[in-house]
This record gives sequence, structure tokens and C-alpha cells, in this order.
Amino acid sequence: MRMRRQPVVAGNWKMHKLRREAQEFCQELLANLDEEPQASIILYPSFPLLTDMAAALDDPRVSLGGQDLHPADSGAHTGDVSGPQLIDAGCSWVLCGHSERRADHAESDALVGRKAEAALQHGLTPMICVGETAAQREAGQTFKVLERQLSAVFSQEFGEFTLAYEPVWAIGSGLSATPELAQEVHAFLRQRLAELVDPEQANWVSILYGGSVKPENAAALIAQPDIDGFLIGGASLDPDKFLAIIRLAAAAA
Ligand code: 13P
Repeated sequence: MRMRRQPVVAGNWKMHKLRREAQEFCQELLANLDEEPQASIILYPSFPLLTDMAAALDDPRVSLGGQDLHPADSGAHTGDVSGPQLIDAGCSWVLCGHSERRADHAESDALVGRKAEAALQHGLTPMICVGETAAQREAGQTFKVLERQLSAVFSQEFGEFTLAYEPVWAIGSGLSATPELAQEVHAFLRQRLAELVDPEQANWVSILYGGSVKPENAAALIAQPDIDGFLIGGASLDPDKFLAIIRLAAAAA
């Protein structure tokens, strides 16, 4: 069996679930999770759910993350959340540059870089999201776009991070990337990280795939050598589906 990076399975709940629903989910998850799941499991609920979930998930098998952070430590930034506030709410991870933030809030590549830096400064592990739109892929610009997104964030001696490749056309569309297409991009991302950051770190860093991941397509995706786990939207809202994907990813470890 080949050496593998520890699989990472993350659920991005976006703007879904109320506190009671989140509570029920946590109970279901913990009751049915293997004692030693052989995968790192992270949940990214929306901000108002964080403190309740930190209490409900007081368990070393599951970590919590914020969906975004402001680069500043504190200040007059209405509607934003800082790294220290996320830590205080029980987070150890944070998403940076999700395509919905880039599109809905006009987040630039440079701003995503500042957010990732702030995360590291505060002891949060950034999960940095990159990916091309359908129009960019059709125009043959996929690698150019990814290159631009990567080089705005990464430099030598960058701290500990995880990268997520989420092609925008695959998010919420039911049209997952094929395992071969995703593998081609993941290999490119790993190669560029070796050049931008450090070859050793690039070899061990987890690169997750996101975009219509479900129990039905997870096994074929995780079988690819450079796909180390998943960032899941819709399917992570259902504890049975989320657990099924965790088991498939762990079985590939
Ligand atoms: P879906 O799994 O719903 O396609 O969402 C993917 C995503 O955006 C996770 O961050």
C-alpha cells in the first residue's frame, strides 16, 4: 500500500442550519463516528452556531473552523469577524478565499493572502480555496487563474496550511469534476506549491477537492494520488452522507 497523507474531510455549512438543527447534527455525528476515524474532520458552520457547536463537539475527533476572517485583529469593521474571536469561539481552522466570498464580497487574491497571513498569526490553520469558473475553463485559462490565486497567497516559509481546489462550475451543480480532471489540477497545485513554498512541505500538505462531493463519487476521487480529502457543501449537511464520506476517505488511508 502506498504512503498516504492523512485524509481530511471538511464540511462547509455555508448559510445553513439553525442552532437546534446543528445540535442534532453534532449528536448524530458523535454517536456514529468511529472511535479512531483515521481522518481529520472539520466543520465550518456559520458564525452564530460556533459557540454552541464548540460545546457540543468537545471531542478530539472533530475540529471547528470559521468560514472567513478579517485580516485585522479588531476594529471598526461592521459585520466582520477577527482571528482572535474565532479562536475564542473554539475554532482552530478558517476558510480563506472561498469562491462565494470572492464572488459575493469581491474578495481579491491579495485580500485572500492577507486573510491567510492573519490566520497563521493567530494560530488558526488556513484552508485556502482556489478554483476557476466555467468561463475561465472554457477559455483555456484554468492554470493561469490558479497560478494567479496561488502566487498572491504563498511565499517561502509559509506556515501550516491546507489547500482546497474547488472548481466554481462544480459547486452545488451536481457536476463533480472527474477524478482524472481533479488529479491533473491537484498535481499542478502541488508542483507550484513546491516552487512557491517548499518541496518538502508541498509533498506533505493536504490538497482537498470540493464541488458536488457525495458518497457516490468520493471513493473514485480519493483514489487519486494527489487528492487528500474533501471540502463538502451540500452533502455535509446530512450526518449520514457526511459519515459515509468520512468512512470512504479513511478507507483510502
Ligand atoms: P457542494 O458540495 O454543495 O458542491 O459545495 C462545495 C463547496 O463549496 C464547499 O466549500
